Amino acid sequence: MAVEHDPVLLRPVEDLFLPLQPGSVLCDATLGAGGHTARFLELCTTCSIVGIDADTRMLDQARRRLGATKRVEFVHGWFDEVLANRRGFDRILIDLGISMVHLREGNRGFSFLEDGPLDMRLDATGPDETAEELIQQWSESEIADTIYRYGEERYSRRIAAAIVRERPGGIRTTGALAEIIRRAVPPPYRRGRIHPATRTFQALRIAVNRELERLERVIPRAARALNPGGRLAIISFHSLEDRIVKHRFRDLCGSVSSTTGEKEPILESGDRFRIVTRKPIVPDESETRENPASRSAKLRVLEKAEKG
Ligand SMILES: C[S@@+](CC[C@H](N)C(=O)[O-])C[C@H]1O[C@@H](n2cnc3c(N)ncnc32)[C@H](O)[C@@H]1O
Repeated sequence: MAVEHDPVLLRPVEDLFLPLQPGSVLCDATLGAGGHTARFLELCTTCSIVGIDADTRMLDQARRRLGATKRVEFVHGWFDEVLANRRGFDRILIDLGISMVHLREGNRGFSFLEDGPLDMRLDATGPDETAEELIQQWSESEIADTIYRYGEERYSRRIAAAIVRERPGGIRTTGALAEIIRRAVPPPYRRGRIHPATRTFQALRIAVNRELERLERVIPRAARALNPGGRLAIISFHSLEDRIVKHRFRDLCGSVSSTTGEKEPILESGDRFRIVTRKPIVPDESETRENPASRSAKLRVLEKAEKG
């Protein structure tokens, strides 16, 4: 089967995860097409891996790729919810966002390049509302604020006004929404470096899947789930995500939340952390050349101290 998603920052993750003691337990909290997990299985032949994905289709794809192995436990769910109830990991990887497979599958609604239903839910079996439903329900200012906050889109107000104008007739497909956005923005922006719908689509996807709330929640839970000496690696793809990772890692090292000023209640007392990557690790030139989708990736790693 053709591999459709190149695992990002594979080499640096590998370097920061080694050495792996025999029998170590890893968690790939965003299993996707299983690219990172396939490498972990090679690196440590006695390790086992819990692979989580919110999307059942990605779990099927990973199962096909990894074959019949008892060393991987496939778990369907959101990483923040699954990790709330799990402990005992030596390594946890969270490779945020969606996979190239999602972008190439027009029927999931993630891509404005493929026409399909305006869905964008990673977990199509759950109660989340689709992007189509959200843009029908929200007020114009809610649409504008979402596109501005999660997409950092400077034409958020014009785009929101155009969506509200067009929505009585229904905006059912990615193609229809992309065209509304294209017509709403000034002509020079239409011809810019990125497609004019890029930021709006990112914002809707983040909102539909509550991506930033889940990221905020998973960091202390994953930190708690680590064994002493264990490491948590997070790969982010835009500044909103990276900011959360950076601040929550710092909070854990101080064990006091800088946002609320309160002690993080769910950590075990005595847990101590250190940031392994003082600066985020980014792909080198050869990786961005071979895999342009990796160009905005940033890797940060946190370590739980040994007891003592
Ligand atoms: C960037 S891809 C991971 C690619 C994978 N590392 C590989 O090399 O094949 C992210 C995956 O995580 C899943 N995902 C995103 N957010 C999630 C969450 N909050 N909980 C569980 N799965 C999530 C997506 O469905 C997607 O399959």
